[in-house]
Amino acid sequence: MTAKRVVVITGAASGIGKATALKFASKGDIVVVADYNEATGVSTVNEIEKAGGEAIFVKTDVSKYEEVQSLVETAVNKFGSIDVMFNNAGIGSSSGILEQNIDIYERTVAVNQHGVAYGIMAAGSKMKELGVKGVIVNTASVFGYLASPGTFAYHAAKGAVVMMTKSAALELARYGIRVVAVAPGMVDTPIIQGYKDMGMLESMKSKSMARKLLDPEQVADAVYLLSLPEASAINGSVVMADEGYASFK
Ligand SMILES: NC(=O)c1ccc[n+]([C@@H]2O[C@H](COP(=O)([O-])OP(=O)(O)OC[C@H]3O[C@@H](n4cnc5c(N)ncnc54)[C@H](O)[C@@H]3O)[C@@H](O)[C@H]2O)c1
Repeated sequence: MTAKRVVVITGAASGIGKATALKFASKGDIVVVADYNEATGVSTVNEIEKAGGEAIFVKTDVSKYEEVQSLVETAVNKFGSIDVMFNNAGIGSSSGILEQNIDIYERTVAVNQHGVAYGIMAAGSKMKELGVKGVIVNTASVFGYLASPGTFAYHAAKGAVVMMTKSAALELARYGIRVVAVAPGMVDTPIIQGYKDMGMLESMKSKSMARKLLDPEQVADAVYLLSLPEASAINGSVVMADEGYASFK
């Protein structure tokens, strides 16, 4: 790829988002690192710059539409375009239905579902306005397909991401904008610390064909591949980046 693309990544201060930010930057793209954690977000930018890449940090809470809109505006004002939007920020959630923890339910849906919706809306309308045939990638999850006990709100939100990806792809196809998603399996990032603390590490490893957790870089590679023009036939799809989790019992 010759021209530098402007790539906005939410949740880029940690885990999958950070690995993806480093990946795109290493390929010469300009990365807009968005996260609500300023300290770790700035560290991602510092790492990119140290490696010779170009990035800025924009503090953003994806559960607030005005902040996501402002993130997209900032990217375009500073770099003149938005070519890739990776709606990835998310939080874990551990509350079952019968616990009726409405705060956890609402916060999980606000970040993991509405945050993705806002990213699609803000980036989609800006790409259309600029005539950019961009790519929007969302982070779904195997939990958008497969139920696991005690994470009702997380399933609700990730199931929505799967369907929003298809719906947005259909609406934006006429502008040449592709919308796809990755559905990671068990990835070794801070979000799964709670499971590790509950002694579930071995069980989580057993969900992959290789019997190990995925590295965030493996998911970042999948996101990067989906963003390329060579992936032009892939639209509205949710690609499993799960090392087989959803393919066997
Ligand atoms: N790790 C896994 O096993 C796994 C599996 C499937 C899907 N996912 C999804 O991958 C995505 C990234 O998670 P991760 O594993 O890298 O976790 P992580 O905790 O390492 O990273 C999540 C990042 O999102 C940021 N964030 C959280 N809420 C935010 C908000 N409201 N606004 C802006 N930023 C916010 C956090 O500060 C953090 O930097 C999430 O959507 C998660 O649901 C993770």
